[in-house]
Amino acid sequence: MSNLDHPVIAFIGGGNMSSSIIGGLIKSGWPAKKIRVSDPVAEQRQKLITQYSLHCFEDNGACVDGAEVVVLGVKPQMLKEAVLSVASQLSEQTPLLVSIAAGIPSGSIIGWIGRELPFIRVMPNTPALVNCGVSGLFASSLTTKPQRQLAESLMRAVGEVIWVNDEKLIDTVTGVSGSGPAYFFKMMELMITEGITNGLTPAAAKTLVVETARGAASLIGSSSLEPAELRRQVTSPGGTTEAGIRYMEQAGIDDAIRGGVKAAVLRSSELSKQFGGN
Ligand SMILES: NC(=O)c1ccc[n+]([C@@H]2O[C@H](COP(=O)([O-])OP(=O)(O)OC[C@H]3O[C@@H](n4cnc5c(N)ncnc54)[C@H](OP(=O)(O)O)[C@@H]3O)[C@@H](O)[C@H]2O)c1
Repeated sequence: MSNLDHPVIAFIGGGNMSSSIIGGLIKSGWPAKKIRVSDPVAEQRQKLITQYSLHCFEDNGACVDGAEVVVLGVKPQMLKEAVLSVASQLSEQTPLLVSIAAGIPSGSIIGWIGRELPFIRVMPNTPALVNCGVSGLFASSLTTKPQRQLAESLMRAVGEVIWVNDEKLIDTVTGVSGSGPAYFFKMMELMITEGITNGLTPAAAKTLVVETARGAASLIGSSSLEPAELRRQVTSPGGTTEAGIRYMEQAGIDDAIRGGVKAAVLRSSELSKQFGGN
């Protein structure tokens, strides 16, 4: 890599996730002239040109030409077609390949290209769209330390980052944090409904629930205590929280959440097999 501070990055697919990462990169000082994007949708390209003065392409090949890092940012079902459109170029240029596509294993992508490349697989989540995401990253053995640092700084542009040392664990990341926002939304949905049933206006119930979720996340983020300990601290004997938690436990909340995460991890591994076929 010639310029590891700011190598040329080509994004294939300029949708929601790529745009968020690009926004974060520009905010962190990445020069717009070092970022390229290809997308078949003219409106999407124009948006990125207007917002960030990026170099945008309709053709994936022109976008990838000379890039040192290529980010695969299309939907999983479009990924094979997108990779095949630039396979020979990738095989000649051997850039660092970063895939943010959910559920597609590195072996499938490398198989479509026909040559081993340094490869980083990323599982982001939707709060990345508001720079509050968390991503799990896996690096293939061909990647160098500077390449791993580079991939990490890409994803740090939209939130926190953790590394896993076995690609199978990307399925676990998917079941925990990839699908995780929806678990919290489900809980919020039910709490809001119950607040309304018990007399609050919908607006008041939503404010109370959303701010409680935000506050709980901030509190745990700034504390060294484990969640169980923080919960114990707000659960006085004979009090309201104890009554609520006891009811939830008797109704099976532990099994529901553990089983839910497990089902999502399993589904992620099934989808990897389904989408990742050669
Ligand atoms: N959004 C999230 O929160 C999230 C979370 C975790 C993982 N991801 C992963 O991130 C990836 C991108 O998701 P997204 O939400 O950003 O999707 P998106 O908004 O649909 O963006 C993908 C863009 O790529 C374009 N595209 C389709 N085929 C292409 C091709 N052959 N060459 C170049 N561009 C092509 C699409 O155009 P068309 O609209 O014409 O198809 C679209 O503009 C997905 O693989 C997803 O699994 C996203």
